[in-house]
Amino acid sequence: MRHPIFAANWKMNQAPADASAFIRQFLAYFPRQQDRTVLIFPSALALHAVAEALKDRPDIQLGVQNIHWEDKGAFTGENSAPIARAAGAKFVLVGHSERRHVFGETDEETGKKAAAAIRAGLTPLVCVGETLAQREAGETGAVVIRQLRAAVATIDAQHIASSLVAYEPVWAIGTGKTASPSDASAVHAMIRAELRTLTGERGEAVPILYGGSVNRGNATALLAAAEVDGLLVGGASLDAEGWAAIVRA
Ligand code: 13P
Repeated sequence: MRHPIFAANWKMNQAPADASAFIRQFLAYFPRQQDRTVLIFPSALALHAVAEALKDRPDIQLGVQNIHWEDKGAFTGENSAPIARAAGAKFVLVGHSERRHVFGETDEETGKKAAAAIRAGLTPLVCVGETLAQREAGETGAVVIRQLRAAVATIDAQHIASSLVAYEPVWAIGTGKTASPSDASAVHAMIRAELRTLTGERGEAVPILYGGSVNRGNATALLAAAEVDGLLVGGASLDAEGWAAIVRA
């Protein structure tokens, strides 16, 4: 069993003061544990507040939800990987479904973002997942493999092997519907096979997280599924006590 990873994607929620209060509450529920990794992806504007609130808990690490692919320049409103790194992020979500489907991010752009992350010393958490129409058309495997290949297209095998992947079916995000543990396992196994193709044996160690309507009621079963190495949680990560229950799954 790989060391499980629990990642909270707060999306566009939690202002700095709320984020700090959340962390104080969460820490009370979650004493330091060696056998699991907790990652939090707050709003970029709350990153500093969360980093301050976590200064005595280096076991909990931070990431940003998005970056631009250029390192700096005239890109009003964007954040770069070096800025995110300097602000305390160690991880970055790349290719999240909402970036792809709400903001029109392309496969090629996810590749440029993952490459920018690596250049800056951030670990990309590459998100892949099919829509309901794609699933019903039997295209799930082809879609997630295409997204994965595009995201790591310009990254060398060593850095692919030190990245993270999340399988988040679009139809499961924020809908209350989850992939069954066996459906998740089947897709994770396809991702695992592709990681082996891309990196050889090192692909074995890449954590593959499941995301999409994870909550405290289904977390244990999903985490127990073969090839599910962790959970990427949206809505249910916004309540400190509920999030702590998931992280203890
Ligand atoms: P929900 O857990 O709210 O379905 O969101 C999943 C997600 O998109 C995490 O990145």
